[in-house]
Amino acid sequence: MPVAGAEPRSPRAERARASIAEALLSLIDEGDLQPTANRIAERAGISLRLIYHHFGDLESLYREASRIQLKRLLERFVPVPPDLPFDERLTAFVEQRARLYDWQTPVRRSAMIMEHSSRTLQQARSFGRTAATLEFDSPWNWKIMVENFMESYHHIGPHAGSLQLFNPAFGTYATDDAGAFSILENPPVAGADSFVVACIFPLTLIAVTESATPWALWYEFDRIEHHRFLLRIHLLTRPELAAQPELVARYAEQIRHIHLEDIPVCEGVQRGYRSPLYASGPLSHLEGGLWHFHRYLQRCFAS
Ligand SMILES: [Fe+2]
Repeated sequence: MPVAGAEPRSPRAERARASIAEALLSLIDEGDLQPTANRIAERAGISLRLIYHHFGDLESLYREASRIQLKRLLERFVPVPPDLPFDERLTAFVEQRARLYDWQTPVRRSAMIMEHSSRTLQQARSFGRTAATLEFDSPWNWKIMVENFMESYHHIGPHAGSLQLFNPAFGTYATDDAGAFSILENPPVAGADSFVVACIFPLTLIAVTESATPWALWYEFDRIEHHRFLLRIHLLTRPELAAQPELVARYAEQIRHIHLEDIPVCEGVQRGYRSPLYASGPLSHLEGGLWHFHRYLQRCFAS
């Protein structure tokens, strides 16, 4: 995810940053829980100077490593088939959780050891307190909500006065298609904050901002029927931010405002599907997340 207000980086620079962050994570995985910058440079096969050239400081490197770690975690996540008997689903769920926690342990221990000197790691470890929950009765098919969530092309329309000003449609792109999830980047214009949205197929929707006051949004679906569901948007943040009612209320109002802009779009798409004039068309390069989701659905229907 690009740093707020930063200039876009070249693909080569992005690859270099990723290889440095992966060097850090590989050292931690092998038991070096406090790798020095020299060790990271040695593992990455570059000079120490290049680490600071690409990241400026170790905080930025930790931020990139946290992002890669989340991606690696998502890659290990395998949805449990919902049609299995309950006992088998429970066993599969518990076994997977145990494997994920086991795999995550070295990075978690490392963050615990180093967080006293790193605000980034403090934030990463204390993230996740529910600050507020918004509810919306949603009279449309849940897949329309997922589609709306996984493309930011529509910022140019219903969000012309909000998101489009800070995270314009044209700069957005999907980065992952690992079969079970998709990630959509929303780079900022100068001075704004970036955010990333992720869908673990079929309907775990998460959005994360990168800013001095970071937030995550979890879109939870309930009472799923063919054409109606209850949407709960959970606002998650660090405990000290969750304890500030005015801050939480202000952010909740922003999120409510943005979702109110999305409601007519989702309702319109639902009506459009019923129209005899409906016809599918090609997706643009700004709709990579939709393409991933459609391929997932295709695989489900094929099987
Ligand atoms: Fe939207």
